[in-house]
Order: sequence, then structure tokens, then C-alpha cells
Amino acid sequence: AEDLKKREDAKSLDPYSSDPERHPVLHVKCKKPFNAEPPPEILTDSYITPRVLFFKRNHLPVPQVDPASYRLNVEGLPGGALSLSLEDLKTRFPKHTITATLQCAGNRRSDMNKVKQVNGLNWGISAIGNAKWSGVRLRDVLLASGFGPELAKWARHVHFEGLDKDVTGTAYGTSIPINKAISEEGDVLLAYEMNGEDIPSDHGFPVRVVVPGVVGARNVKWLGRIVISTEESSSHWQQHDYKGFSPGTDWKNVDPKSAPAIQELPVQSAITVPADGAVIDRSDETLTVKGYAWSGGGREVVRVDVSLDGGKTWQVAQLRSGDEGQPAEPSPPPGQAWAWKLWELTAPLPPEAEELEIICKAVDNSYNVQPDTVLPIWNLRGLLSNAWHRVKVKVTED
Ligand code: MTE
Repeated sequence: AEDLKKREDAKSLDPYSSDPERHPVLHVKCKKPFNAEPPPEILTDSYITPRVLFFKRNHLPVPQVDPASYRLNVEGLPGGALSLSLEDLKTRFPKHTITATLQCAGNRRSDMNKVKQVNGLNWGISAIGNAKWSGVRLRDVLLASGFGPELAKWARHVHFEGLDKDVTGTAYGTSIPINKAISEEGDVLLAYEMNGEDIPSDHGFPVRVVVPGVVGARNVKWLGRIVISTEESSSHWQQHDYKGFSPGTDWKNVDPKSAPAIQELPVQSAITVPADGAVIDRSDETLTVKGYAWSGGGREVVRVDVSLDGGKTWQVAQLRSGDEGQPAEPSPPPGQAWAWKLWELTAPLPPEAEELEIICKAVDNSYNVQPDTVLPIWNLRGLLSNAWHRVKVKVTED
């Protein structure tokens, strides 16, 4: 009985004790707070990432939110604050669905770590996922709350605050520019469904913001408060974290104020199959390489180049926006390509090579390309890691 009491006491002291169950296949980067990514080999098995496999990036304990008493407060408006229940959101505004990829700014940080140590969770290539998000447009809520020409004169940013809090009572929070929030093409959602079901607690139940084309950090989960403001959010995550710096900047000379907060992400791609270090049988004769490609700001990936010989020669991969054998998603309007593309290349195995260095690189519709190496984009936090992705495989005679 004493043991049981001790265990119960420990549980009540542990703010993470009510965190949800997670899928055992996930690669855990940190248990408390919970951060995990799926194994790369299964990441591109489906165009829509299953919810249980979607990467989970939490800064704090997962809050328990009662959907019946949930309120979303919208502040900074001329008529005072607005308080909306989950029912209000679901019944007073049209439901809108988008397919959008969410990527953490720290995705592929491990590639930077290999070059020179950085500070942060050692993410592989799977801190990214693609989901169908349904909810209401932030634009519709702002317009219904009295946003109009008068407010547009001074409003510059929209703050989002989560219901997750640290020990001092500080909530997770960030902001995005008002233009993204209010524009019809911006497609910013207050989402209450992920892949057609209630958003799981790890991903922000009951309501999260989805800011398509923009870094994961601004996609605030367990949304409690929206504030319209002249200034950016003053939170740590807006002002100090999630910023990019020169490779020459170190912890002694870094000035967070000198860099803007990351919003739209650069073009990205990675190889999910074969895995680094895989052994390939020469009698196979051909090799199939698979991966994902995505770009921020609604820019569409238009091409993925793959090399099997360390970058000497290149072949163009096939892109798809859906599952194999299934109808593809309709092409998005220009500037609203929020979802990743999966790609695949099947090519003859180069004769006689005993080891292959396979590389991929994507091009978006602004002809942005990925940098070839890590060192020139290395930064102390290991963010925006988007150099050409390389895997080495061995070819053996069997
Ligand atoms: N929102 C809240 N309230 N708390 C958080 O810790 N993490 C952010 C963002 N929204 C976070 C949050 C970060 S850094 C990322 S990358 C995404 O959520 C991750 O979303 P996911 O866990 O649904 O994949």
C-alpha cells in the first residue's frame, strides 16, 4: 500500500503523467516533453501520414482540455473580446479542409550535428508529415469578430497562445503576420479535425492552428487565445528561438534581435528508401529510390533530381500527389501548394560500383534549390537544415 501511495504521489508530481499513449514504432527523441518521429522507411508509405505516426513535437506537458468547457478567446478587437466554444466554431463558420504538410524547423538537424555540434533535439528526416486538416478559416473568425478596414490600418500580427503551460504558468505562444492570417489564399485554419477525425491530444485537441507553408512552430496546438496586435508575440519562441543565423555566429556573439522569426520554410527533400547503410544485391539490377519533397510559402515542388554517383550524373524522379494506384489530389492553385510530393526513381544499378552515394535535391516553382552541403548553412540551433540529402549503400555480389 505504501508503494502504491509513493507511486501515486510521484504521478501527481509529474506534469507528464497524463500524457497520451504513443505508438511504439516511433523514434523517441525526448520523453518529457514528448518528442518523436516515425522511422524514415515508413514515412512515405502513404501520401497522408497516419495520425499515430505523425511526428510529435511538444515543448510542455500535453494539456487535458474538456471540449464542453473549451473556449477560444479572440482579443484586440474594437468590440472587446470574443469567446467561442467548440460548438460555436463548428456551427457558426463554414468547414474548410486543406491537405498541408507540417515540418519542424529542426527537421534534419542530425545532418548539421554531424558537421559540427548544434543545440537541440537530434531530429532525423521525419520531423515532417502530411495531413488533411479540417476546421474553420481564421479569416472567417477574424471577419466575424469585427476585423475591417479600420483594424487593417494598424494590425500587423496575430498572436496564438496554447493551453499548455510551463511551471511558471507561461503558455506556448507565437505569432504570424496579419496578411497571412487574413488573406483568402493564406488558408490559415483553426483546425478541429486531422485526417477526418478529432485532432488527437498530442496534435492539439480540440483546436489547433494550421498555418500552411509556414514553419511548424507557428502552428499552435491546444489553441486558447488569439490576439490581434501591432507587434509580434513577445514569447520566447517568437523572439529567441526559431531564428536563423550565420555559420559564423556562436553562443557568445548571438543577438536574437538581429534575425527575423522563421515563417515560410525553404525547399526541402529527403530520401526515405533505401536507408543509409543498406546493402543492395547486385543481381537486383535496378534500384528504387523513394522520398518526399516540399517547399514553404505555398511554392510547388516542380522537380526532384536524384544522383546514384555522388552528384556526377542526375536523373529526374517521378512525382506524385497521392498514393500509388489511387487518384492524385487535384493540382492546387498557384501559391497554394501546401502539401508535399512523394517521389520515386527506378534506375539500373551502376555497373561495378561497390558503394553508391545516393543524393536527392528538389526544385520549387520559384526555381529555389537546396544547398549542396551543410557547412555554409550550419547554424548554432541546427534549424533550416535543407542541404542535399545523401545516403550511402553497399552493393554486394550474392
Ligand atoms: N503548440 C503548442 N501549444 N505547444 C507546442 O509545444 N510545438 C510547435 C507547434 N505548436 C507546440 C505547438 C512546434 S515547434 C511544432 S514543430 C509543431 O507544433 C508540431 O506539431 P505536431 O506535434 O502536431 O507534429
